[in-house]
Amino acid sequence: DLSARIDRPIVLVGMMGVGKSTIGRKLAQLLALPFADADEEIEQAAQMSVSEIFEQFGEDYFRDGERRVIQRLMEGGPSVIATGGGAFVQDDTRELILDQGIAIWLDCDVETLVDRVSRKDTRPLLRGGDPVEIVTRIKAERENSYAAAPIKVISDSGPHGEAVNRILQALQ
Ligand code: S3P
Repeated sequence: DLSARIDRPIVLVGMMGVGKSTIGRKLAQLLALPFADADEEIEQAAQMSVSEIFEQFGEDYFRDGERRVIQRLMEGGPSVIATGGGAFVQDDTRELILDQGIAIWLDCDVETLVDRVSRKDTRPLLRGGDPVEIVTRIKAERENSYAAAPIKVISDSGPHGEAVNRILQALQ
């Protein structure tokens, strides 16, 4: 039984819009594990939205809080954790996740990412520019960091259920 063999948090990493939260929720349900969304936890702890934290305190402050929240979530034992797209790019946060969790890189093409992120205007990094250009650039910059995850799963334009099945297969 797969769930019985999972002894560490499963941590989903990858670009904004790839589906980490939706896929994470479904995966957690199937494995009967608790689910946490790091961005939501940060917002609860700060009583502010991610955009407000970026605006008022800056990105470095956000990254510091993000690392502490992920650390706390990972201390809770086996679970599924969706991280914000920049978490695994920070050296200390990536090392923490690689050391204590099972990192899964969810990846898909830029077109699908832009299509998914443009349904919501909650991402400070997308403000004031052409989303295709910004997402293309950020994705290229982050590719090496994401590639440090031991498992990579494609979450393309199909339903998220397919990506969940691919993750379950990869975990076997
Ligand atoms: C960010 C992604 C966001 C959020 C913040 C920064 C990033 O999370 O943490 O806006 O640097 O890619 P999602 O990946 O859930 O959009």
